[in-house]
Order: sequence, then structure tokens, then C-alpha cells
Amino acid sequence: MTAAYPFVPALREPEGSPIRELFKYLSDPEMISFAGGYPSAALFDADGIGAASAQVLRERPAECLQYGATEGAPVLRDALVALMAGRGAAVTRDQLLVTSGSQQGFDFLVRALVEPGSVVLVEEPTYSATLQALRLAGADVRGVPSDQHGMDVDALAAMLADGAVRPRLIYTVPTFANPTGATLSPERRLRLLELAARHQVVLVEDDPYGALSFDGTAPPSLLALCDQVPDARPWLVHLASLSKTLAPGLRIGWMVAAPEIIRRAVIAKQVSDLCTPPWIQLAVAQYLADGRLPAQVEREIAFYRDKRDRLAEALRLAFGERIRFALPAGGMFLWAALEGVDDAAALLPHAIAEKVLFVPGAGFYAQRRARPAFRLSFAGAAPEQIAEGVARLNRAVARLDAAG
Ligand SMILES: Cc1ncc(COP(=O)(O)O)c(C=O)c1O
Repeated sequence: MTAAYPFVPALREPEGSPIRELFKYLSDPEMISFAGGYPSAALFDADGIGAASAQVLRERPAECLQYGATEGAPVLRDALVALMAGRGAAVTRDQLLVTSGSQQGFDFLVRALVEPGSVVLVEEPTYSATLQALRLAGADVRGVPSDQHGMDVDALAAMLADGAVRPRLIYTVPTFANPTGATLSPERRLRLLELAARHQVVLVEDDPYGALSFDGTAPPSLLALCDQVPDARPWLVHLASLSKTLAPGLRIGWMVAAPEIIRRAVIAKQVSDLCTPPWIQLAVAQYLADGRLPAQVEREIAFYRDKRDRLAEALRLAFGERIRFALPAGGMFLWAALEGVDDAAALLPHAIAEKVLFVPGAGFYAQRRARPAFRLSFAGAAPEQIAEGVARLNRAVARLDAAG
């Protein structure tokens, strides 16, 4: 007999994450994956992280092993304030909360600001876990279209202008976005900040990829720009992470927001996990003090840039005029569509049969329906696997064409 658990409505028929659903295929050693947004394990600085964590445990064992402040270890908050200053953003310690990954920061915002039925605007397509968090909260999620220059701010302005909706949040990944790889243009950045200020809506800048710029410096973050736009700063929340540059297993992220928002997020964090593991926080602070991060990021940029180029070249060679994509200037993702493929999900079973994985586009939209585009990550696959992975994708497309 199955037990009739009284699950909340949002979890009665759980859909799960479209990306995590693909994980079961990853245990096949012959699979080539363009699916996950995992950083490459080949580059993890295990020596540097190991040395920093051993040092802090030796020198400050009680601090490492005891509960810590919910806001985060002061030494790490100060190090992150300095990191943000290096990225052109002036932040004070009381505006910064350490979170267990940036994902947790978004969860806190949802808890603080979103009720069942609240309207939330997200650029579309967008990060699937954000959609999941919003669905779980019962939000009324509405998509704002985007193109290769990021969110269509005219469309956003039109949605806000008629006053019919007063969204609780506007969510965007403006730099090297997941899943599109797109980067919001500088003009649109200012416009977006103006709209948030004018309509007094909390604007969430999710920025885990901004440091991974392949062509020199990335455009300034919304946070770095917000003081140029009158009254924008109180409305901007910046979520950041070391997951894509240092290691996701550390679960170190942070939120920069007005102190009033930070205060609510701290209460949510007390309920959630009391504090991010102090040992990890101190180890990361030590790692940053050791000065190892910039060289680590440089290695990643060179590695990912090369893999992006290999992927783009292999796709052009394999599919010629049939494929459409914009070359991402950083991050981990390339967003593509093939002429004659109206539903990328229909391609996936053929790809799995050919032992290559990608993520169909449907899971990145608020409204689930067939979408032609799909996401390819160039971060995880080994450089020498990329051409072979695309050859397999080509065979999968041939199978789909034949079946059609
Ligand atoms: C846009 C975006 N935000 C947040 C996250 C989660 O990052 P973290 O590991 O810091 O929780 C990811 C990870 O894939 C992401 O792509």
C-alpha cells in the first residue's frame, strides 16, 4: 500500500529538474556529456584548497569546528568585500551575507518576498532551478523575452508600464547566462536598473559566471553600475558564487543587498542551516588571502575558451547553415537550434542512443512546451571528446530526420 502523505500542492506531483533527470546516463563511461553546468574537475585546485583548509584547522580549530555567525565569518565577508571591490563594486560588510551557494541566496529572497500567487518576472529562457524555486513557492512566473544581448528591456518596460502587474522580483543572469551564454548589453544594463528604480521592484542579478570572460573584461555587473542610476541601489540584489571559479563542492556563495533585505535573509538562513560551514568559510578566506584565485580563474578561462572554440567549430562543420547559435563570450554554455528540429526533446532519445547528452530547451521556460533550442555546455567534456560528441549529435539528428 502506498502511504497518502499530505504533501504541499507544489510537491504533490514533483517534476524534478530536467538536468538532474539526465544524471543517470552519466554513469555510462562511454557517454559524452554536454549536459551539466559542472565546472571541469580537471582544473580543481585541490592542493591550494587542501593547504588552506589544513592551515585554518591547525591555527583556529575552535572557530573551524564551532557554530559560526549566521551572516558569515567576518574574515570571509571582508575577503568577499575586497573581491567585489576588485570587480568594481563598492560593498560594505553589512550589505553582504555568506550563503551556502548562490542557490541558497535565491531561496532566501523567495522566502522573504514571494507568496503564492505573487508575480515574478524572469528573463526567458532562464536557469531551471530558479524556475523550480519559484514554482515551489507558488509564484505566478512570467517570462520576459531575451535575445543574444540578454533580456529584452523594452518588453520588460511594456510589461511594467500598464501597472497591471506589480512583480515581487525581476530575475536575470545578465553575464554569460545560463542557458543562453548571452550577455546583457551595457545600454540595457542601465535601462534595467532605471526600470527597477522607477517601478520599485527588486531586481535580482544572478552572477555566477561573470568572472569567466573569454575576451578580456566582462561588462560591469549591475551592482558595479547601480550607483550611476539614481535610486537603483536599494532595489538591486546581487547573488554571487565561487562554484564556477573555485569549486561547487565548497558551497560558498554570497548575497549583496540592502541591509533590510539582508536582515530577512539572515532569519531565513537561521531556519535553513544556522550558518555555512565555518571550516569551509575560513579555508576559502585563507585561499583568497593566499592569492591563488586569479591564476586559477586564468587557467579556467584559457581551458573553457579553447573548448568553446572547439565546440563552435565542430558544430559549424557538422551542421553548416542548418545550425544557429551565438558564440558566447564567456561562461559555460552555448544555446543552439537546428533547422527542421522543432522540439529538441525529440532529439534527446536519439542522442542518448548515440551516447551524447545535451539539455533540451523546454526546461528553461516558465511554460512547459516543445522548444526547438537546446543547451550545450562546453565546460565538462574533455577537449579531445568535443569533436566526437558533435559527430554523435550529428548521427542523432540523422536518426531523428529518418524517423520524422
Ligand atoms: C545561473 C545560476 N545561478 C545559480 C547557480 C547555482 O550556483 P551555486 O553553486 O552557487 O548555488 C547556477 C549553477 O548552475 C547557475 O547556473
